[in-house]
Amino acid sequence: MGTNYKTGQSLDLKNSTVLIAGAASLVGSHTADQLLAAGTREVILLDNFSFGSMQAIEHLRDHERVKIVRADLLRLPEIIQATKGVDGVVHLAAYMSLGFSQTPWQAIDVNLRGVQNMLEACAINNVKKVIFASSNATYGYGTGIKGELHESMAFHSEGAPPAAILYGASKIMGEQLCRTYLQQRGLDYLVLRYSTVYGERQHYRAANALYIMQTYDQIKSGQAPVMPGDGSETKHFVYVTDVARANVAALQSPTTDTAMNISGPDAVTTGELVQLILDYCGSNLKPEIKPDPPGTVRLTSGGAFYIPHNKAKDAIGWEPQVPIKEGIKRLLDWRKQNDTP
Ligand SMILES: NC(=O)c1ccc[n+]([C@@H]2O[C@H](COP(=O)([O-])OP(=O)(O)OC[C@H]3O[C@@H](n4cnc5c(N)ncnc54)[C@H](O)[C@@H]3O)[C@@H](O)[C@H]2O)c1
Repeated sequence: MGTNYKTGQSLDLKNSTVLIAGAASLVGSHTADQLLAAGTREVILLDNFSFGSMQAIEHLRDHERVKIVRADLLRLPEIIQATKGVDGVVHLAAYMSLGFSQTPWQAIDVNLRGVQNMLEACAINNVKKVIFASSNATYGYGTGIKGELHESMAFHSEGAPPAAILYGASKIMGEQLCRTYLQQRGLDYLVLRYSTVYGERQHYRAANALYIMQTYDQIKSGQAPVMPGDGSETKHFVYVTDVARANVAALQSPTTDTAMNISGPDAVTTGELVQLILDYCGSNLKPEIKPDPPGTVRLTSGGAFYIPHNKAKDAIGWEPQVPIKEGIKRLLDWRKQNDTP
């Protein structure tokens, strides 16, 4: 692993208690699965179940090394109580772009004060390390987004929907709150900037993954899939089991005080993505180009882009494993099994 990074605490998982905040959902449930598989002594699943569900963690309910805690990040005393005796925290709970467009008030509270409350509780209880779930939204959206989106890239907002920019800005603030707590209270942290996460237990709250699900639903009901443009727009996904592995690797790594991209092996265009879904469904429907109605939260860019992940390899020894074609198959296989009649 690279030597250019600051080092701090790393967790020996077999002797550690790890708390996942915002656990009852996509990334949280898979992170719990992998922490347990890695032998973690105890995994605490914390959620207020505001939009996560018991269903996502049902399979873990009776696990002997799992504890489920209903608590709200906006209530500091509950979080101080929940983090007693905890060695590591994976902080996931957040509102994304769609949440910022629907309920901006709650989104700002959870993405800012919620993060601050968790960091304060961790500092009080001498938690060794926090992994903060950030996003490629920290580069912004719109016309400035093209080429390679390296970790040092600046934030762009021109031509993007306000909700997406508010979301990205909230993640930038969350990252900097982490750094403040390291500087002022000695709390080690790593920031993982996920690109769009997709996979089994997918929800309908993330704009790009939502596009996969909507396209699948259209094709299954015999309608032509709709593309908002000519199909050349880039998207960069990362499969959820790869994200969960990154969270586990980050907890185990001594690297501290830095941010890294967690992206899939390759970017795809919208046209390629739609074709993958058509192929999966065995359909020869032709995509229909229909511009979005005004006010749609669509994540835009200024041209082709790619999100490199070589820093994560260097800093925590992580690389993505699941190519997009395989990931789409796994996601849609899961979706088929869980179709309600
Ligand atoms: N899903 C993606 O495509 C994606 C992409 C980039 C970054 N991220 C980031 O990864 C993280 C996890 O993503 P996800 O898709 O699993 O998230 P999600 O939206 O499905 O889950 C968030 C969880 O947090 C819980 N929560 C919300 N407010 C809370 C509060 N006040 N107290 C306690 N729990 C609360 C919700 O009930 C939910 O279970 C988020 O921080 C997100 O911003 C996600």
